[in-house]
Amino acid sequence: MTMFVLGDVLSGAEVRVLRDEAARLEFEDGARTAGARARRVKANDQAARSPERDALLEMARKALTAHPVFQSAARPRQMTPLILSRYREGQTYGYHVDDALMGGIRTDLSFTLFLADPESYDGGALEIDDPAGLREVRLPAGSAVLYPSTSLHRVAPVTRGERLAVVGWIESWIRDDAERAILFGLDQALATLDGGGDVALVSDKLAQIRSNLLRRWAGR
Ligand code: NI
Repeated sequence: MTMFVLGDVLSGAEVRVLRDEAARLEFEDGARTAGARARRVKANDQAARSPERDALLEMARKALTAHPVFQSAARPRQMTPLILSRYREGQTYGYHVDDALMGGIRTDLSFTLFLADPESYDGGALEIDDPAGLREVRLPAGSAVLYPSTSLHRVAPVTRGERLAVVGWIESWIRDDAERAILFGLDQALATLDGGGDVALVSDKLAQIRSNLLRRWAGR
Protein backbone atom coordinates (compact mmCIF):
# COMPACT_ATOMS: atom_id res chain seq x y z
CA MET A 1 0.00 0.00 0.00
CA THR A 2 1.33 3.39 -0.94
CA MET A 3 0.88 5.96 1.74
CA PHE A 4 2.29 9.49 1.71
CA VAL A 5 2.94 11.74 4.64
CA LEU A 6 2.97 15.42 3.72
CA GLY A 7 4.79 17.49 6.32
CA ASP A 8 4.10 21.16 7.02
CA VAL A 9 1.09 21.57 4.76
CA LEU A 10 0.15 24.38 7.14
CA SER A 11 2.50 26.53 9.21
CA GLY A 12 2.08 26.74 12.97
CA ALA A 13 0.48 30.16 12.57
CA GLU A 14 -1.97 28.88 9.94
CA VAL A 15 -2.93 25.94 12.14
CA ARG A 16 -3.70 28.32 15.00
CA VAL A 17 -5.86 30.49 12.75
CA LEU A 18 -7.81 27.46 11.53
CA ARG A 19 -8.27 26.13 15.04
CA ASP A 20 -9.51 29.52 16.31
CA GLU A 21 -11.96 29.69 13.40
CA ALA A 22 -13.08 26.10 14.01
CA ALA A 23 -13.82 26.83 17.66
CA ARG A 24 -16.44 29.37 16.55
CA LEU A 25 -18.25 26.99 14.15
CA GLU A 26 -21.33 24.94 14.75
CA PHE A 27 -20.93 21.17 14.50
CA GLU A 28 -23.48 18.48 13.64
CA ASP A 29 -23.63 14.68 13.70
CA GLY A 30 -21.13 13.27 11.17
CA ALA A 31 -23.27 10.21 10.48
CA ARG A 32 -25.34 12.40 8.14
CA THR A 33 -22.70 12.21 5.42
CA ALA A 34 -21.82 8.52 5.80
CA GLY A 35 -22.96 5.70 3.52
CA ALA A 36 -25.41 3.14 4.89
CA ARG A 37 -22.77 0.68 6.18
CA ALA A 38 -20.41 3.34 7.56
CA ARG A 39 -23.26 5.10 9.39
CA ARG A 40 -23.43 2.22 11.84
CA VAL A 41 -19.86 2.79 13.04
CA LYS A 42 -19.46 6.53 12.64
CA ALA A 43 -19.64 8.66 15.78
CA ASN A 44 -18.08 12.07 15.23
CA ASP A 45 -19.11 15.64 14.54
CA GLN A 46 -18.62 17.72 11.43
CA ALA A 47 -18.75 21.47 10.97
CA ALA A 48 -22.14 22.58 9.67
CA ARG A 49 -22.26 24.58 6.48
CA SER A 50 -21.58 28.29 6.86
CA PRO A 51 -19.58 30.91 4.97
CA GLU A 52 -16.96 30.82 7.77
CA ARG A 53 -16.59 27.04 7.50
CA ASP A 54 -16.30 27.25 3.73
CA ALA A 55 -13.54 29.88 4.03
CA LEU A 56 -11.66 27.68 6.49
CA LEU A 57 -11.92 24.63 4.24
CA GLU A 58 -10.85 26.67 1.24
CA MET A 59 -7.68 27.68 3.11
CA ALA A 60 -6.96 24.02 3.84
CA ARG A 61 -7.64 23.00 0.24
CA LYS A 62 -5.33 25.68 -1.14
CA ALA A 63 -2.51 24.75 1.24
CA LEU A 64 -2.84 21.08 0.41
CA THR A 65 -2.88 21.52 -3.36
CA ALA A 66 0.11 23.89 -3.12
CA HIS A 67 2.22 21.29 -1.28
CA PRO A 68 5.04 20.14 -3.60
CA VAL A 69 4.53 16.43 -2.89
CA PHE A 70 0.75 16.53 -3.21
CA GLN A 71 0.55 17.02 -6.99
CA SER A 72 3.09 14.32 -7.70
CA ALA A 73 1.67 11.83 -5.20
CA ALA A 74 -2.00 12.28 -6.09
CA ARG A 75 -2.14 13.68 -9.64
CA PRO A 76 -5.54 15.10 -8.74
CA ARG A 77 -8.25 15.45 -11.34
CA GLN A 78 -11.07 16.35 -8.98
CA MET A 79 -11.58 16.68 -5.27
CA THR A 80 -14.68 16.28 -3.14
CA PRO A 81 -15.78 19.15 -0.91
CA LEU A 82 -13.70 18.95 2.26
CA ILE A 83 -15.04 18.12 5.72
CA LEU A 84 -13.95 19.53 9.05
CA SER A 85 -14.29 16.63 11.46
CA ARG A 86 -14.10 16.62 15.24
CA TYR A 87 -13.81 13.72 17.67
CA ARG A 88 -14.23 14.32 21.37
CA GLU A 89 -13.77 11.92 24.24
CA GLY A 90 -15.54 8.65 23.46
CA GLN A 91 -16.04 9.37 19.77
CA THR A 92 -14.71 7.08 17.06
CA TYR A 93 -15.21 5.95 13.49
CA GLY A 94 -15.09 2.16 13.30
CA TYR A 95 -13.64 0.10 10.45
CA HIS A 96 -15.08 1.01 7.07
CA VAL A 97 -14.12 1.55 3.47
CA ASP A 98 -14.88 4.95 1.98
CA ASP A 99 -17.61 5.16 -0.65
CA ALA A 100 -16.24 4.58 -4.16
CA LEU A 101 -18.28 7.39 -5.65
CA MET A 102 -19.08 10.68 -3.96
CA GLY A 103 -21.11 13.27 -5.82
CA GLY A 104 -19.87 12.14 -9.23
CA ILE A 105 -16.24 11.84 -8.12
CA ARG A 106 -14.44 8.47 -8.03
CA THR A 107 -12.47 8.29 -4.81
CA ASP A 108 -8.93 7.03 -5.47
CA LEU A 109 -7.18 8.66 -2.53
CA SER A 110 -8.33 9.73 0.91
CA PHE A 111 -6.58 12.27 3.04
CA THR A 112 -6.53 13.55 6.58
CA LEU A 113 -4.99 16.90 7.46
CA PHE A 114 -4.39 16.96 11.21
CA LEU A 115 -5.18 20.23 13.01
CA ALA A 116 -4.89 19.20 16.67
CA ASP A 117 -1.53 18.86 18.39
CA PRO A 118 -0.92 15.15 19.08
CA GLU A 119 -0.14 15.98 22.73
CA SER A 120 -3.55 17.58 23.17
CA TYR A 121 -5.51 14.34 22.82
CA ASP A 122 -5.17 10.60 23.42
CA GLY A 123 -6.33 7.89 21.02
CA GLY A 124 -7.77 9.08 17.72
CA ALA A 125 -5.11 7.50 15.51
CA LEU A 126 -6.05 6.82 11.91
CA GLU A 127 -5.54 3.06 11.66
CA ILE A 128 -5.18 1.66 8.16
CA ASP A 129 -5.42 -2.06 7.52
CA ASP A 130 -2.44 -3.06 5.38
CA PRO A 131 -1.38 -6.58 4.34
CA ALA A 132 1.99 -5.78 5.95
CA GLY A 133 0.29 -4.94 9.24
CA LEU A 134 -1.78 -2.24 10.81
CA ARG A 135 -0.56 1.29 10.06
CA GLU A 136 -1.17 3.81 12.80
CA VAL A 137 -1.10 7.43 11.73
CA ARG A 138 -1.06 10.28 14.21
CA LEU A 139 0.67 13.32 12.79
CA PRO A 140 1.75 16.74 14.04
CA ALA A 141 -0.75 19.55 13.52
CA GLY A 142 -0.41 20.89 9.96
CA SER A 143 0.72 17.57 8.44
CA ALA A 144 -1.39 15.31 6.23
CA VAL A 145 -1.56 11.68 5.18
CA LEU A 146 -2.66 10.50 1.76
CA TYR A 147 -3.72 6.84 1.44
CA PRO A 148 -5.59 4.63 -1.05
CA SER A 149 -9.36 4.89 -0.68
CA THR A 150 -9.50 1.14 -1.30
CA SER A 151 -8.20 0.45 2.20
CA LEU A 152 -10.13 -0.58 5.27
CA HIS A 153 -9.48 1.94 8.02
CA ARG A 154 -10.83 3.47 11.20
CA VAL A 155 -10.32 6.33 13.61
CA ALA A 156 -9.55 4.85 17.03
CA PRO A 157 -11.65 6.11 19.93
CA VAL A 158 -10.50 9.40 21.43
CA THR A 159 -9.94 8.92 25.16
CA ARG A 160 -8.91 12.47 26.06
CA GLY A 161 -9.13 15.89 24.45
CA GLU A 162 -10.27 16.69 20.95
CA ARG A 163 -9.06 15.48 17.57
CA LEU A 164 -9.70 18.05 14.87
CA ALA A 165 -8.92 17.30 11.23
CA VAL A 166 -9.83 18.16 7.67
CA VAL A 167 -10.65 15.17 5.48
CA GLY A 168 -11.44 14.74 1.81
CA TRP A 169 -11.14 12.55 -1.27
CA ILE A 170 -9.36 12.79 -4.58
CA GLU A 171 -10.09 11.42 -7.99
CA SER A 172 -6.69 10.98 -9.62
CA TRP A 173 -5.84 11.16 -13.31
CA ILE A 174 -4.10 7.84 -12.60
CA ARG A 175 -6.62 5.40 -11.20
CA ASP A 176 -4.13 2.64 -10.38
CA ASP A 177 -2.15 2.94 -7.16
CA ALA A 178 0.94 1.14 -8.50
CA GLU A 179 1.04 3.16 -11.73
CA ARG A 180 0.78 6.37 -9.73
CA ALA A 181 3.68 5.18 -7.58
CA ILE A 182 5.82 4.58 -10.69
CA LEU A 183 5.19 8.12 -11.93
CA PHE A 184 5.93 9.45 -8.46
CA GLY A 185 9.26 7.59 -8.53
CA LEU A 186 10.12 9.21 -11.86
CA ASP A 187 9.25 12.64 -10.48
CA GLN A 188 11.56 11.99 -7.54
CA ALA A 189 14.39 10.83 -9.79
CA LEU A 190 14.04 13.91 -12.02
CA ALA A 191 13.87 16.26 -9.06
CA THR A 192 17.03 14.72 -7.62
CA LEU A 193 18.86 15.11 -10.95
CA ASP A 194 17.60 18.65 -11.53
CA GLY A 195 18.68 19.60 -8.03
CA GLY A 196 22.17 18.25 -8.59
CA GLY A 197 21.53 15.47 -6.08
CA ASP A 198 23.00 12.02 -5.59
CA VAL A 199 23.33 10.31 -9.00
CA ALA A 200 23.81 6.86 -7.43
CA LEU A 201 20.43 7.26 -5.74
CA VAL A 202 18.80 8.19 -9.06
CA SER A 203 20.37 5.13 -10.65
CA ASP A 204 18.86 2.91 -7.94
CA LYS A 205 15.50 4.62 -8.38
CA LEU A 206 15.54 4.09 -12.17
CA ALA A 207 16.49 0.44 -11.73
CA GLN A 208 13.54 0.03 -9.37
CA ILE A 209 11.17 1.68 -11.86
CA ARG A 210 12.46 -0.48 -14.75
CA SER A 211 11.99 -3.60 -12.66
CA ASN A 212 8.47 -2.62 -11.64
CA LEU A 213 7.48 -1.72 -15.21
CA LEU A 214 8.87 -5.04 -16.43
CA ARG A 215 6.76 -6.82 -13.82
CA ARG A 216 3.66 -5.08 -15.10
CA TRP A 217 4.39 -5.48 -18.81
CA ALA A 218 6.11 -8.89 -19.05
CA GLY A 219 3.87 -11.62 -20.45
CA ARG A 220 0.98 -9.37 -21.38
NI1 NI B 1 -12.96 6.79 5.97
